[in-house]
Amino acid sequence: MAANGSEKQGAKAYYVTTPIYYVNDAPHLGHAYTTVAGDVLTRWHRQRGEKVWYLTGTDEHGQKIMRTAEANGVSPREWCNELVEGSWKPLWEHLEIANDDFIRTTEDRHTARVREFVQDLYDKGEIYQGGYEGPYCVHCEEYKSYGELLDGEGEEKLCPIHKKPVDMLKEENYFFKLSEYGPKLLEFYERNPGFIQPESARNEVVNFVRQGLQDLSISRSTFDWGVKVPWDDKHVIYVWIDALLNYATAVGYGSDPAKFEQTWPADVHLVGKDILRFHAVIWPAMLMANGLPLPGKIAANGWLMVGGEKMSKSNLTGIKPQDLTEHFGVDAYRWYFLRAIAFGQDGSFSWEDFSARYTSELANDFGNLASRVAAMVGKYFRGTLPAGGAYGPAEQAVMDRLSETVREADQKIGEELDFAGGIAAIFDFIKLVNGYLTEQEPWKVAKTAFPSGEDTTESRESRARLETILYTAAESLRATAVLLNAIMPASCEKLWASLGAEPEIGPLAEQRVAEAGVWGRLPAGVTVTKGESLFPRLQEPASEG
Ligand code: ME8
Ligand code: MG
Repeated sequence: MAANGSEKQGAKAYYVTTPIYYVNDAPHLGHAYTTVAGDVLTRWHRQRGEKVWYLTGTDEHGQKIMRTAEANGVSPREWCNELVEGSWKPLWEHLEIANDDFIRTTEDRHTARVREFVQDLYDKGEIYQGGYEGPYCVHCEEYKSYGELLDGEGEEKLCPIHKKPVDMLKEENYFFKLSEYGPKLLEFYERNPGFIQPESARNEVVNFVRQGLQDLSISRSTFDWGVKVPWDDKHVIYVWIDALLNYATAVGYGSDPAKFEQTWPADVHLVGKDILRFHAVIWPAMLMANGLPLPGKIAANGWLMVGGEKMSKSNLTGIKPQDLTEHFGVDAYRWYFLRAIAFGQDGSFSWEDFSARYTSELANDFGNLASRVAAMVGKYFRGTLPAGGAYGPAEQAVMDRLSETVREADQKIGEELDFAGGIAAIFDFIKLVNGYLTEQEPWKVAKTAFPSGEDTTESRESRARLETILYTAAESLRATAVLLNAIMPASCEKLWASLGAEPEIGPLAEQRVAEAGVWGRLPAGVTVTKGESLFPRLQEPASEG
């Protein structure tokens, strides 16, 4: 959990959520992608000095989980406990995810409130009894329309996402009057153009709603692994209604009014584009029906693909994040997917691309800059950071670029969720500082800075110049550590320690984004040490066969 020294008391928290993941199997790169993005967003906002609440969790009811548990010969509850404690929570710890809470839909704090919420809808006349028949994909936990199905073997029809056969379901269920919310939703999208991101996702949802909504079946009576419908215990609540409510129950809906008040509504719900409609259509309609404020933004990320298909648990195409962190390290892992894929677009993982970017951007550009500067401060000034003297145009260019970089990164990462754009801006700044050193050639200046005999005017001038160059580079690194901390916290901590910053200006996590651009925060006189390399050279992957 990230510390934060100066939260405003009473202010509403900036509230970010991930989807709560189905625990039918262990997490893969795709789940980690959304969760890391949320973590970067929340850490960024914490470094703006905001109060932040970051929620993740697991979705444990429904047929998919029930069938998986059955196939493994254990009860659904045992299955969930094992997966949550053995796979999901440990992965988030491994990836340094600083979530404030972790909700499981099997917890009482959740189920009790789900029943109340649904009862309220029932009392308000928003729910009625009816029948439905249609194709159902258990992997999506969703009824499909005939039009979207793909042809399989013979008569078989397949889910367009999972490419697996759908079941024909016929049930007497309870229905939510979703069809009545179309016009209200369209008006809401109109008035809140930033509600669905990116634009393509927004258009898809608007077109979908314009075609007219059908009422939504919100209960199941053919199995019992779920939250019981309060007025009819032969039914359990449809897993998606149960699941969406996690965002409210986890922050005190119906149980802790003060906390709810300070957190609700979510500022950003991060979701994969596969579950966009649930979040952008059904979820706001449910909230409207119960008179609750609507979230600020539904941000849909694209898919990580394998061989042209969505990486998925159901199709066993998942790659374990640990397979990559073992080789590249956790920080590089957190950085890579956000850096390499435009948020909202699909992308595919390639070992070669990851290796190439790691070597050129992390090891060569960033890591080398840090070690070169520390080495020179060590060699020329016995590790004591000199003061920056008379700044010339080259230094001014670095300072100007730094302020622009801070503005750009803050806008892109903090506001637009354009992680790739924000990270690119920061790495452009790193490149600029490398170029500055190449041009200023401090190693040449050093040759005349320390005469073996008497000091001369030339040696004094050279020394002053050398001091300015190294201060400028070190101060640029100080700013870079602040800006990259949300993305690569462990490496930035190492850099922070190597710059000797903490005793003078405090812990890295408490540095504000805005202060990153304030020149001169790192005081002269700090002790700079060359620590271990931030991004060690990669070992060649063991060759096959
Ligand atoms: O849908 N690429 O859970 P889920 C990118 N329980 N992101 C991916 C991905 C991929 N290949 N695969 C998964 C559910 N994700 C419901 C959610 S929320 C109230 C209930 C990420 O385990 C992405 O964020 O199938 C996607 O939306 C989520 O995992 C789905 O996880
Ligand atoms: Mg899924």
